[in-house]
Amino acid sequence: RKKVTTLDIGILKRKNKPITMVTAYDYPSAVHVDLAGFDVLLIGDSVGMVELGMDTTIPVTLDDIIYHCKAVARGAKRPLLVADMPFGTCEGHRFDALKNAQRLMKEGGVDCVKVEGGAERAETIKTLVEGGIAVMGHVGLRPQAISVLGGFRAQGRTAKQAEQIIEDALAVQNAGAFAVVIECVPSVVAKAVTDILDIPTIGIGSGPNTSGQVLVFHDLLGMLTHPHHAQFVPKFCKKYADVGESIRVGLENYREDVENNRFPNEEYAPYKMSSDEQVKLK
Ligand code: KIV
Ligand code: NA
Repeated sequence: RKKVTTLDIGILKRKNKPITMVTAYDYPSAVHVDLAGFDVLLIGDSVGMVELGMDTTIPVTLDDIIYHCKAVARGAKRPLLVADMPFGTCEGHRFDALKNAQRLMKEGGVDCVKVEGGAERAETIKTLVEGGIAVMGHVGLRPQAISVLGGFRAQGRTAKQAEQIIEDALAVQNAGAFAVVIECVPSVVAKAVTDILDIPTIGIGSGPNTSGQVLVFHDLLGMLTHPHHAQFVPKFCKKYADVGESIRVGLENYREDVENNRFPNEEYAPYKMSSDEQVKLK
């Protein structure tokens, strides 16, 4: 159970072994991810949507991510821990971005950071790497850029867009990133990027031709699927469990047991008073 490093991620790619990655945001889910044997655990800014009920990732702050990183770092010891740099923390001066990334490492306790963007973030990525912080890139659909992209939509569906994504991935690699997430692009585009890069690609909604895959914890486990409160799950996400249903059934059974005087019975009243003491009770 040796700790996974950024070096190991590159080795997996060279050995043609798929890299496994998933998000988590709190202590129990981090423990589960560790036990399940994943290579990489992302504390994503998707936390805003799946944990905090926001509509987008835009409002997520650096302090939000740090808070969740701390909890995750206590639970997951083996996977490589990657923290998202949220909207507003890496678009300004590159030394401000460096300070922000340092906080994620020093306070959050993660191993490295993820930066959304391509060529326009290359200088920033280079500054972080020179500052001793490993960086994962993120091209294709960048949820922090929905204001300019016009929403959560697939990217790289025209040849011109696809070429831009390849350019972006190359720029991110040349800036020193150790891996790059590629989100919501056609399989052929993900394959082209993966073929041209030396660093691993981690796909989400981008087909099978990448060096690894990532999904959002809540999406793949079916955390919120009740018809009255269904959380949007993208159509590329396979549902591997129905955790939300287990939670709902457990909670309803508990409430009904209390309402019907079935809980607690003697079995769940473990603290006893000796009969001597009971006699003294007025
Ligand atoms: O925030 C997130 O969960 C992500 C993954 C979808 C790559 O950035
Ligand atoms: Na993210």
